[in-house]
Amino acid sequence: MPIESDLASRPIPRPARGDNVRLVRKLFSDPPVALDEITANYGPICALGAGPVSVVVIGGPELIQQLFATPVESFRWAHKFNVIGLRFVIGRTSMIVSDGADHDRRRAPAQPAFARRRLNDWIPTILDRTDAAIDRLFAELPGDGATVDMYPIGRRLILGITLQAFFGDRFAARVDEIGDLYVRPQRFIEAPAVKQLPHPVPFTFRAKVREDRRTIDRIIDDEIAVRRRGAPADAPDVLDAYLGSGLSDTEIRDQVRSLIGAGYDTTAATFAWMMLRAAQAPDVWARLRAEADDVLGPIDQQQPANHDAATLTSLVFAGRVVREALRLHPAGLIGVRAAGVDVRLGDHVVRRGALIAWSPYLAGRDPASWVEPLRFNPDRFADLTTGQKMLTDQAWLPFGRGPHSCLGFALAQMELTLIVARLAQRLDLTTGISDLPRPVGLVVNRPEGGARLCVTRRVGE
Ligand code: HEM
Repeated sequence: MPIESDLASRPIPRPARGDNVRLVRKLFSDPPVALDEITANYGPICALGAGPVSVVVIGGPELIQQLFATPVESFRWAHKFNVIGLRFVIGRTSMIVSDGADHDRRRAPAQPAFARRRLNDWIPTILDRTDAAIDRLFAELPGDGATVDMYPIGRRLILGITLQAFFGDRFAARVDEIGDLYVRPQRFIEAPAVKQLPHPVPFTFRAKVREDRRTIDRIIDDEIAVRRRGAPADAPDVLDAYLGSGLSDTEIRDQVRSLIGAGYDTTAATFAWMMLRAAQAPDVWARLRAEADDVLGPIDQQQPANHDAATLTSLVFAGRVVREALRLHPAGLIGVRAAGVDVRLGDHVVRRGALIAWSPYLAGRDPASWVEPLRFNPDRFADLTTGQKMLTDQAWLPFGRGPHSCLGFALAQMELTLIVARLAQRLDLTTGISDLPRPVGLVVNRPEGGARLCVTRRVGE
């Protein structure tokens, strides 16, 4: 809650100067290691940086809960150091970097497309596209047991689903081209803040990112032009909804660019972690398969068109595998906002103007909220008591909370649940190594080197 500045408060723990600088650097170069160190040495709240670049890292679920309970105006996007790179990549008017009434206006038109009832219509398409991806994988597999990086396969599949569901067939047909155009911008937003500072110098990485963004804009503009020439759609998708929303073309373009960017890389990174975790636990893969055989039917008698909401709710174990992967590996390790007023959190006061970095990664590994927090255990979500459910709800935050919470949370979980179930049905996965790859990326955290796994067709495939 906003507070009077003169109320008594305990100082926020702050590392001494040398450690402070080291931890800020590490947050960009090795984010999970930095976050683990911050929470182990300084507790659930810790102040880094100094002066105008003061960042308060919050990892304690209770404090994050309090943060999301503060009025919206006390917790804003706009801050000169917060949005430099992101705004350059997704656009100044993107809902992601907007506040207040502008944010509401830009988010509202997309909202109906994410309603559960509308999303359920996409279940057959997701299964169809997953089958096509598996067929393609098998066609290219050099032999049973070959090592394959499952990450790009998941990326392409998930991008194709997002494009088709929200922007139609013409967009979906350009999946490879659009996927390539997002690679550099996504690398750019992971770079340290100083490397993201604006400059007009040509032939630099930033200039290439600008060029990619312009090409993406041309693709969006072409589609807008085609739709404006044609009759209004019977069942409007997200782009149709935006075209009828009264937003300017620049605003529409920024929302489309953001929805694609926010939607597919996050889900693909979770997919990669989930594959690695599931391959390390053969009993998990076997249980996924047994459930999928039961719910989706025998592999030689597939009828994706027959599947609907009931299919999804019956894939209970697959849903828990997805939740557990998201707990341990939330795509965004931190979410950043600026304190619009002095904000009290627990015994502390975060001063107006400070950046607040709340961490779903730390909350998901909080030892007071989770039993054996580092163990991958999908069954932890089964049969929760009321008390456990409360702790779980408070500490499971991969999609954020509040007005900026993830628009695609239901879509992402639905895609991942159906995809993992179908994969478990059709192929065997093993990993030759017991360690997980190094996690890289603060905005979208993914396994370094992808998800390299040994793939074998299921007997009878
Ligand atoms: C596993 C996958 C995903 C994860 C972990 C994830 C995570 C998040 C998080 C944490 C936020 C809030 C950021 C903040 O408060 O600062 C967010 C916002 C957002 N997400 Fe997702 N997301 C995922 C998938 C998707 C999908 C599939 C879509 C759409 C196709 C999507 C669209 C968005 C949009 C548009 C926002 C901004 C909302 C706003 O600012 O009002 N996300 N996401």
